[in-house]
Amino acid sequence: MEIAFINGSPKTKDSASASLLQELKSLLEQDGITTSDYNFNKPMLSIEEMEQMKVHNTLVFAFPLYVDGIPSHLLNCLTQLEAFLASVKEKDIKVYSIVNCGFYEGHQTKLAMEMMENWCSKAELKWGQGVGIGAGGMLPMIKNVPLGHGPKKSLGKAFRELANNILNGTSQDNIFISPNFPRILYKLAAEMGWRKSIKANGLKRKDLFTRK
Ligand SMILES: Cc1cc2nc3c(=O)[nH]c(=O)nc-3n(C[C@H](O)[C@H](O)[C@H](O)COP(=O)(O)O)c2cc1C
Repeated sequence: MEIAFINGSPKTKDSASASLLQELKSLLEQDGITTSDYNFNKPMLSIEEMEQMKVHNTLVFAFPLYVDGIPSHLLNCLTQLEAFLASVKEKDIKVYSIVNCGFYEGHQTKLAMEMMENWCSKAELKWGQGVGIGAGGMLPMIKNVPLGHGPKKSLGKAFRELANNILNGTSQDNIFISPNFPRILYKLAAEMGWRKSIKANGLKRKDLFTRK
């Protein structure tokens, strides 16, 4: 079984997408499965990268939600990959996607998930399953919390189902989850984070409310 883990976040470190792929990887490793890692954090893929996609029978994408959709650099990569794969006959590639977003509610990622499903059908790939995850901003901060516990209770359940589907090459309905953590506390923590970063960038709190 050849599985490609594709991180579609433009961040080179501390991305929620990377920490989600790491969690899923540890579940698959329990079954002796290894994965190959790729970064689609740029708008163009090399021929070598596209050749690599061809040899995998499972592609697992993880990316952030941007303006209710797929980040533009990743969309470019997908368009390029679709054209490249058009010449491959009798493709048997299954696609799974993990989309995380800044809003608390995972169902915010529904449209982006549909875009991935549409891309699959256009590129003649098979859709496996999608997991849409809310409150992505706190994921890198709680990376040491074990999967299935505390704020990651629902994530644990969703990822076990996703890992099973990947292992068996099966498809199932998409899952949308929010953290097992009070919404109000997430909002307060996010606001504190913004105030901290605006200070670190030499600006004042009132600058957060500047309108152009
Ligand atoms: C340009 C841009 C657009 C975004 N649009 C949305 C959005 O429409 N809805 C949302 O919930 N979060 C949105 N976000 C927040 C990201 O989805 C969120 O920060 C995510 O956790 C980043 O994931 P990553 O660390 O894997 O890159 C946006 C972030 C950026 C930078």
